[in-house]
Amino acid sequence: MERTNLNIGLFGFGCVGFGLYEVLHKTPSLKAQISKICVKNKGKQRPISADHFTFDKNDILLNNDINVVVELIDDADAAFEIVSAAIKSGKAVVTANKKMIAEHFEELLLLQQQYDVPLLYEAACCASIPIIRNLEEYYDNDLLESVEGIVNGSTNYILTKTFAENLSYAEALKQAQEKGYAESNPTLDTGGFDAKYKLQILLAHAFGIKTVPADIFNYGIDNIGELELKYAKEKGLKIKLVAQAFKTADNKIAAFVLPKFVDDKNKLYQVDDVFNGVVTKTCFADTQFFVGKGAGAYPTASAVISDISALSYNYKYEYKKLQQQQGLELDNTVLLNIFLRHKKEEALLLTTYFESIDESYLNNESGYISGTISLENLKEVIAINKESISAVLHDVAVTANIKTELTALLQEVALN
Ligand SMILES: NC(=O)c1ccc[n+]([C@@H]2O[C@H](COP(=O)([O-])OP(=O)(O)OC[C@H]3O[C@@H](n4cnc5c(N)ncnc54)[C@H](OP(=O)(O)O)[C@@H]3O)[C@@H](O)[C@H]2O)c1
Repeated sequence: MERTNLNIGLFGFGCVGFGLYEVLHKTPSLKAQISKICVKNKGKQRPISADHFTFDKNDILLNNDINVVVELIDDADAAFEIVSAAIKSGKAVVTANKKMIAEHFEELLLLQQQYDVPLLYEAACCASIPIIRNLEEYYDNDLLESVEGIVNGSTNYILTKTFAENLSYAEALKQAQEKGYAESNPTLDTGGFDAKYKLQILLAHAFGIKTVPADIFNYGIDNIGELELKYAKEKGLKIKLVAQAFKTADNKIAAFVLPKFVDDKNKLYQVDDVFNGVVTKTCFADTQFFVGKGAGAYPTASAVISDISALSYNYKYEYKKLQQQQGLELDNTVLLNIFLRHKKEEALLLTTYFESIDESYLNNESGYISGTISLENLKEVIAINKESISAVLHDVAVTANIKTELTALLQEVALN
């Protein structure tokens, strides 16, 4: 379908929706206008006149003059209904809803093929950083080895504030919410779910791997406590919530979201506040680094505008890596160097999950183990001891070491 004139039906007029409205009016070169805006709450005060709005989705979905649907709502289930219906009626779609994409990736892929309609979602992954289109277009011929990044602006803001300004976790979260960085449900951010959804999108475009959320392990920042903050500060490290995917020795892909200690040699060390950063590593180009604002009205709207603009020249994702069918599988056996804080009485049992232990510490109440553990075992440890432990990644372990005498030492401590 020719889209020389883009007639937009917009869903959602919150942080990003209103941002888009403003940014669009400041982008006169783009031949696009918003015809109707569908929102939810009838009693809400709006910054523009009431005749722009509807509360009935069909005023957009059944309107033949509207050829583009921009979906910017905070409800992934309702978003999937809207986006599916829009595609089925031949309307191009732009969305920022990573939860919806991650939960329905396969169905959305089929719908695009079946109806030959573009679905673009650059804003869903790292907001203002054009990472999806780069993975789609630029890395087509270069063999990607890894993609690693800070992909959630809200948690990076919280971590930056707790580190640099010694703000309490609760106060930093409140600030992130006030600035429009946080999801309506903050657990999506702080629990690492939002980062996981983005990692799923990256996995599809970087390595051609289709996943559902249950396939990928995510561990967030909710449990980070004084001990690991002190540990990091003493060693000149920062803690960042990092999503990563990389090829393993068996040519599989390991992918997970974990808080990570980063030192000042790591490119992600300087990525603070609401910024996101993504480091790609390829066979021939070595590392490349993308940085930009990862949340907020205007940075997110700028990615939405870029997608809207791309529709005018009939751009759509070709999902080249999926087409190449590299047959890559996920690997959960990868070994990780982990810092694990725990209650004193848990120390002995937890050591049995580790392949090797480099360092450990115990006081009267708590302690930590720093050593090598498989991703599978880490998942199990976290599932069993959810409330009482906190895990931070040092790095991916290259090889498994042999368990040290520390187990015996800890046995002795536990007996006393
Ligand atoms: N905020 C960011 O920095 C950011 C960054 C990247 C991606 N995103 C994504 O962008 C999307 C929007 O986020 P946001 O921060 O703008 O959310 P928000 O400020 O909470 O606004 C949500 C909007 O969705 C509307 N809405 C909810 N359910 C609806 C339904 N069933 N039908 C029509 N409208 C409905 C709400 O209507 P009412 O106004 O009537 O309440 C509101 O206008 C989300 O998918 C989010 O993950 C956000």
